[in-house]
Amino acid sequence: METEIPSTTLQKVAELEKRNEAAFIGGGSDRIAKHKQGGRLTARERLDVLLDPGSFVEIDRFVTHRCTNFGMDEQKVPGDGVVTGYGRVNGKIVYVYSQDFTVIGGSMSRTQANKIVKIMDMAVKNGAPIIGLNDSGGARIQEGVEALGGYADIFLRNVLTSGVVPQISAIMGPCAGGAVYSPSLTDFIFMVKNTSYMFVTGPEVIKSVTHEEVSKEDLGGATAHATKSGVAHFATEDDRNCLLMIRELLNFLPSNNLDDAPILPTKDRPDRVEESLNSFIPDSPKKPYDMIQLITKVVDEGYFLEVHKAYAQNIVVGFARLNGRSVGIVANQPQVLAGCLNIEASVKAARFIRFCDAFNIPVVTFVDVPGFLPGTDQEWNGIITHGAKLMYAYAEATVPKITIITRKDYGGAYCVMSSKHLRGDINMAYPTAEIAVMGAEGAVNIISRAAIAKAKDQPAERARLTKDYEAKFANPYVAAEIGYVDEVIEPATTRKRLIDSLEMLKNKRDTNPPKKHGNIPL
Ligand code: HXC
Repeated sequence: METEIPSTTLQKVAELEKRNEAAFIGGGSDRIAKHKQGGRLTARERLDVLLDPGSFVEIDRFVTHRCTNFGMDEQKVPGDGVVTGYGRVNGKIVYVYSQDFTVIGGSMSRTQANKIVKIMDMAVKNGAPIIGLNDSGGARIQEGVEALGGYADIFLRNVLTSGVVPQISAIMGPCAGGAVYSPSLTDFIFMVKNTSYMFVTGPEVIKSVTHEEVSKEDLGGATAHATKSGVAHFATEDDRNCLLMIRELLNFLPSNNLDDAPILPTKDRPDRVEESLNSFIPDSPKKPYDMIQLITKVVDEGYFLEVHKAYAQNIVVGFARLNGRSVGIVANQPQVLAGCLNIEASVKAARFIRFCDAFNIPVVTFVDVPGFLPGTDQEWNGIITHGAKLMYAYAEATVPKITIITRKDYGGAYCVMSSKHLRGDINMAYPTAEIAVMGAEGAVNIISRAAIAKAKDQPAERARLTKDYEAKFANPYVAAEIGYVDEVIEPATTRKRLIDSLEMLKNKRDTNPPKKHGNIPL
């Protein structure tokens, strides 16, 4: 027998539906239509793309602001311009907030901040990543300092959460003024080309102060931040591409700092021999090659998710898998600036290594580095301080660290690039490795200046001495004889040797001396 539903219950369910509809329509159909003109998705559509189908659970759908200034009590939309909650990405829980530009420009009210703070606190307590989809006109102007306080409460959470759970920001619309500092405190920033921008002061202010004329896109668009400033780790084509890329990245990350990096099944055999690597390194040490090609020959199914792809391209960083296990890869790129370390490369790699270390992701380093980039520009802008960041990051990292020296490994850069001395666990070299204080020509110019000056045939003497120096140092064996290199390997076996080493190191435990925190040279 069917039970009759009391009519008051039906009415109450109908009211819930009505309230839900009001929340779903956000700023209304006109504003939604305007918002979508530029190819942008709505706040809720973005969550549909980001999360596994049907997995989103919304929290605080009916929260509204309490501001009465400037007629704001007439402008209330359930949810107050941000959709918050949790869902799954490839089965794993993540916490999310997605700002709704159609509701008062997605602006940050006290209420909106409270919702974001709540979801961030839940993410930390329950050990899952937090993803922020930013699309906002900044602090809600009608609320004044309350809105600023809301931002600051989020900044504090960003800092306290750093290193506890991964924090990912997507910039999918405006992000200006102090609002940029929440994303900048997170681990990865994704931007969408042509529809998003980030700047502390916009084109108008710049024009009035410095008389420079610049468009929003040129000043703070995705391409500018992915190539020039390095603020953005990923510049994506559109909203959908951005959200799918976030899913890709999450696949490589553990949920929190107590979890191990994820392992995904692979069909790529761990003992696969890559014959082409035996002839991959050019005979001439001056000839460049593409380090990314080398990486893709070694990792599972040739898949490498490059981070900061368009910025400081003389160093390559990104995620890959070896026999299913996530690893962070750092590699000098001989194709750009001969793979020299400069300020940008040092900072880029240091930040990446610190992320990997915070989240238990082993670091694999491929080395082919002629040294630090010389020049007044580098010296006056502080290569000493910035290069030290890379040293610091490698030295303090306690995750498994595996190094392969493919060719040049000269000078201070030898010490920096995950050397044995900075607690590299397994340091291997190809037979083509050259480990020395500097290249043979430079070395001979300094240590044999007098002998060359005295010689009758100076070019011949220089060539002879250079050959001598090369014979002594242009190889991996001096380092191998004193244990600074653990193994000299056949390049074709790189994949197997890396996987064997990772397996051997999988229970590695190492610690740093107890302290409040270190003082990385900022
Ligand atoms: C209140 C805002 C708002 C804001 C936009 N709106 N930003 N309301 N506070 N910060 C409202 C608009 O009034 C408008 O309402 C609706 O959102 C859509 O905005 P439009 O201007 O029509 O959109 P668009 O033309 O696309 O321009 C977007 C924009 C512009 C460039 C972001 O709105 C803008 O310049 N906003 C102000 C940006 C700003 O100065 N923010 C404060 C920054 S300082 P209606 O009802 O007309 O649809 C800051 C400090 C943070 O954020 C400090 C942290 C420490």
